[in-house]
This record gives sequence, C-alpha cells and structure tokens, in this order.
Amino acid sequence: MDNLMLPIQGASKAKRIKWGPAQNAISWSYMKLLRENNKTLKVYPENPYIEVYQFRENVYGLFNQNCDGMGDVWMYVVVGPEKALVVDTAFGIGDTRALVNKLAGGKPLVVVNTHSGPDHCLGNVHFDTVYCLDIEYELIKAKCKPGAWDYMFDKDGKNIWLQFDKKDLPVYKDYKLVPVKNGHIFNLGGDHDVEIVWTGGHAPGHAMFLDKKTRAMFCGDVVCSDVISVGPGPSPGKPNGQYSNLTTYRDNLAKVVTRFAEFDYLFPGHFMVNLENNVFSAILDGLNVIIENPEHFNYADPATGPAGPRMHKYVKGFSTIAYVKDGVYPPKS
Ligand SMILES: [Fe+2]
Repeated sequence: MDNLMLPIQGASKAKRIKWGPAQNAISWSYMKLLRENNKTLKVYPENPYIEVYQFRENVYGLFNQNCDGMGDVWMYVVVGPEKALVVDTAFGIGDTRALVNKLAGGKPLVVVNTHSGPDHCLGNVHFDTVYCLDIEYELIKAKCKPGAWDYMFDKDGKNIWLQFDKKDLPVYKDYKLVPVKNGHIFNLGGDHDVEIVWTGGHAPGHAMFLDKKTRAMFCGDVVCSDVISVGPGPSPGKPNGQYSNLTTYRDNLAKVVTRFAEFDYLFPGHFMVNLENNVFSAILDGLNVIIENPEHFNYADPATGPAGPRMHKYVKGFSTIAYVKDGVYPPKS
C-alpha cells in the first residue's frame, strides 16, 4: 500500500491494490471493526465480491469495494411484503442480480439510483428497470454505457485499483431507466411505502429514499463520514448542473429536518451507517455557516482542481463538507 491506510481483512474475493485519497481515521477504524468483527456478515456464492450485512430484520447492507480508488460503496436491499427495494447498484462486479434475488426471496425488485456516480449506477445493467429522479436521468444515461468500466484498467488491461477477475465485469446491456418526480412513492406491499426525496448538492438530481416502514433514510453521498462533497454548480455539458450546489442542498435539507417524526436512522452510500437522524441537523448547520461566509473554511485541499481550490468545513462531531467557490450559490439568472 502506498499510503497510510493499512489493509482490512475483508471477506470479499477482491483485493485492494491501491487507493486514491486516504480516508479519515474514524471511517477507516469503523470499517475495520465492522468488516472484521460483525456477526451478521455473510458472503454468498451467488456473488463472492459482495459482503452482506444484516442491519434490520428486513434491511441488508451490501458492501462493494470501490473499483476506482475512491471509497467503498454500500448498496441496500429492503425486503417488503410483496416487493424488495434495491438502493444503488455499485459497479456491478459479479452476479449482483442473483445475490439480490436470493436476499429478496425471489420477490419482484424495485431498483433505484441515488445519483449518477459510477460507484452507484454501473450495476444497473444487471436489472431490467431502474428508477431515478427526473433531474438525474440524463446523467445516469450518460454514465452507464458501453465501455463504462474501461477506466478501471491500465493500457495493458491490468486492474489499477482493485484486483478482481475481468471475466466478472458486467457486460453492458440496455435496460429501462425510468425518471420519477420528487416525492414519488414506491410501494413494497401493504403499508410499506418508500419516498424519493430530492437533495441536489453532490449531484444535480441526487436523491435519498425515505423508508417509512423501517424508519430509515437511505442517503447516497449527501451524508458521508469521510467527506461530503458538493458539486461546482453549472458545468459545460452537465445537464441540470445548476442544482449541484450548497444552497440547493441546504434548502432541501432544511425541509428534511422538519420530518424527523418519520425516520430515525440514516444509511449513507459510504462508510459509517446506522447514524441517528440528528446528523442531518449538524450538516445543515455546517451548510448554513458556509453559505453565510464561504471564506470561513477550516482547511483547503492541497491540490487545486479544475474548479479551483476545494475547501472543507467541519460538520460538528461527524465529517467535513467539501466545496468550491462556484458551488456555493445557485447561478444568478
Ligand atoms: Fe459515491
């Protein structure tokens, strides 16, 4: 390993070659404890690349190692009375569908994406139909396409970041991506409803999924114990990029924190899970402080990206919010 994160003895068949940026100490330590000691951990023969953790009687976290050097990623399966919800599809290494079908006991699947990050949507090709927020539709279409996995390999075809069998890469196939509006309800049978909740911020049409029955919010990348990364606002060629900013996320989160009577726990797309809902209040406080004065950041990344320096503001007791100057406010029209 060429940075300070020592190996975790995970149960997945894949092995880490190297990482991109080092993750923070609390996330690393949490994942080490979870992956090396959690009693619910199972790896099924249907997909030896995915570590399955049971967080509730009917809620499973599917831990997928990241294939491009960034953070490992969680998918979730919630088994309802008639259907099972699948939140995100990761990179799609191995037979994800067979594993999900096993956990769902063969029930019909409702597959959804939080956003267009490749670590969240490339596995869509395993399924027939996937739902997303209408604002993110074009971006997911553009991301999950033939050749989408090529960047994980060097010019000689060798894995760069994660060692897995190339034969276990998914083969691209067309699937039906269905856009839905903010507030759309997915019914899993009986009174088991799940609502799509728009956040924006990390990605223009980033969405969370509020499971009203298990009282859990599946958060994607807008809650993260390492870095909560918010986008740069409008970018050339990026549909709806104007929603990828701090203020849009703040305004949407301000509505979410008025709904704590509806859910208790947060299940993000990376690192720490099973967080209490008051983490949202801490993130909202951090967003408000930045918007009030974007220059009062705690530290900046040493490297400057195409959108300028990336600044970090601490989220009390949890993480940091990372942003660039143009990503603070929505564009003035
Ligand atoms: Fe992600």
